[in-house]
Order: sequence, then C-alpha cells, then structure tokens
Amino acid sequence: MSVGENLEKIFSLKNKVILLTGATGGIGSVLAKGLADAGAEMALCDIGNDKLEAIAAEINENGSAKAYSLNILQMDSIKACVDNVIKEYGRIDVLINCAGINKREGFLDVTEETYDKIMGINLKGLYFLTQEVAKHMIKANKGNIINMASHNSVGMLGGCSVYGATKSAVTALTRSMAIEWAKYNIRANAIAPGHILTPLTTVTWEHPERSKYLSERIAMGRPGTPEEILGLTILLASDSSSYMSGMMYHIDGGCLAGGQPWPYDTKY
Ligand SMILES: NC(=O)c1ccc[n+]([C@@H]2O[C@H](COP(=O)([O-])OP(=O)(O)OC[C@H]3O[C@@H](n4cnc5c(N)ncnc54)[C@H](O)[C@@H]3O)[C@@H](O)[C@H]2O)c1
Repeated sequence: MSVGENLEKIFSLKNKVILLTGATGGIGSVLAKGLADAGAEMALCDIGNDKLEAIAAEINENGSAKAYSLNILQMDSIKACVDNVIKEYGRIDVLINCAGINKREGFLDVTEETYDKIMGINLKGLYFLTQEVAKHMIKANKGNIINMASHNSVGMLGGCSVYGATKSAVTALTRSMAIEWAKYNIRANAIAPGHILTPLTTVTWEHPERSKYLSERIAMGRPGTPEEILGLTILLASDSSSYMSGMMYHIDGGCLAGGQPWPYDTKY
C-alpha cells in the first residue's frame, strides 16, 4: 500500500455519522464541509434553518449531509434533535459540540440574563445534548466526543468571565466523559482554539486597537482561520486517534507559548 493510500485510510471518516452542533458558524460550517469531504455523513444541527439547509445542499453536491433544527437552550429541542438524527441514521459515531456564544462585558456589568444565556448555550446545553447522545453511544458500546473549548479555558481575556467559566468547565466535562465512559469504548477530547477569525470575533479583529493588542499576544502575529481547526478535528474524529482521550489540544499560533517575543535587545 502506498503512503498516500495509507494516509487516506487512517484519517478516513467513511461511514461515520457525525452530529455537529453550531454547524452554520464560522468554525462549524468549515468543519461541516471538511468532515464531509473526509467521508463522514454529517448531521448538521443549529438554530436558524436557511443557512443550515444551504450548507447541507452544498455538501450534498459531493457528499452527505442533513439539516436538523436545534435550539440548545431548550431541553425538548435537544431531545427532538437527537431523536431525529437517530431515526435517520440509527447511530451517532461522533458528536462534535461546537455551538457557543460570547458577550464581552466587564465582570460587574454582566446581568443575570446574559449569565444564564452564555451558561445555557455553552455549558448546560452541551451537557444535556451530550447526555442524550451518550445514551445511544453507550447502547452501541462505542462513541467519540469532541468538545470545542477555548484559549479561555486556561488563559483569560478581560470581559470574558462567563465565557471563560463555561470553557474551563467544558474541559472538566471532557475529562468526566472520558473517564466515566471509557468502559463503553467512548473517547472524549477537547479542542482549544486560540483567536480564530469568525463572526464571533470580527468585533475584535476589525477594531484597530483590539486587533493590535491581540496580535502582539500571538507568536504568529495573526488570528487563525477556521480551516486551521479542521486537521486536528479530522484526527480526533478518525480511528487514528484511538488511544487519545480526556485531553485538550490547543491550536493557537503560539499564544500560550508567550506571544510576540521581547522586541528589545536580548543581549544585556
Ligand atoms: N472564534 C474563536 O476565536 C474561538 C476561539 C475559541 C473557541 N471558540 C469556540 O468555537 C465554537 C464555534 O465558534 P465560532 O467562532 O464559529 O462562532 P460562531 O458565532 O460563528 O458560531 C457559533 C454557532 O453556535 C450557534 N448557536 C448559537 N446559539 C445557539 C442555540 N441556542 N442553539 C443552537 N446553536 C446555537 C450559532 O448559530 C452558530 O452557528 C464556539 O463554541 C466558540 O466558543 C471560538
């Protein structure tokens, strides 16, 4: 077998049913198309149907995708969404929890409404959707879960207290999923994107001072693209990562490593 054929085989997602939340978002829409290209059958879940249907239609030109309405803030919507995916495919091989929101506000400005909404989507929704999917994975005695965490899981930005709390919690949940469900052949990992250019972050990157501040904190001096999240997602979704579980993996252009180096004379 040639190296090329072997590479294609070990990263293949052929015959894998992937439930992806946040499928119309900046990162989610790129994952939807890229994972379908790698052979997966995509169950695309999001709030707001037009964009979702359009992405599914685009994928269906060469691959396989179906759109499912999901408001992750509502328990009955979570249940109906998972039931519908199971009705269609009979199983969920990989769950990717990518839906998420943020609202930048100082600690003292956060209202109960904002707190509940960010917690509700990023944490409670992820928790109960995963619970619903895991019931089917446990019955099948196999499964694979990928949670979208964040740089804010480990390092904070001002004005992101609630968001950061949810993302730190997502890494804790990832560990719980990994250790409680390993006996059912279920793996769980988290991806921590650094600063990625998407609709969630345009307010930062289109602002001269904010983008300068952030660029200086990234060794590569630029935001990442959603496409730069795809390779690791394919690795984690494929069987080539069969011994990887319970960990969080950063994709951050050298942000945690220390950002831009000291710009002054280093010989002193
Ligand atoms: N962009 C970044 O720099 C960055 C960095 C770290 C982590 N992340 C995480 O990556 C994930 C995707 O972020 P993105 O940048 O693509 O954001 P995005 O705003 O483009 O996408 C978020 C998605 O979540 C969906 N969503 C929002 N509320 C929902 C609800 N009630 N029910 C169902 N779906 C809902 C939206 O419709 C959208 O498709 C998020 O979890 C985010 O926290 C992003």
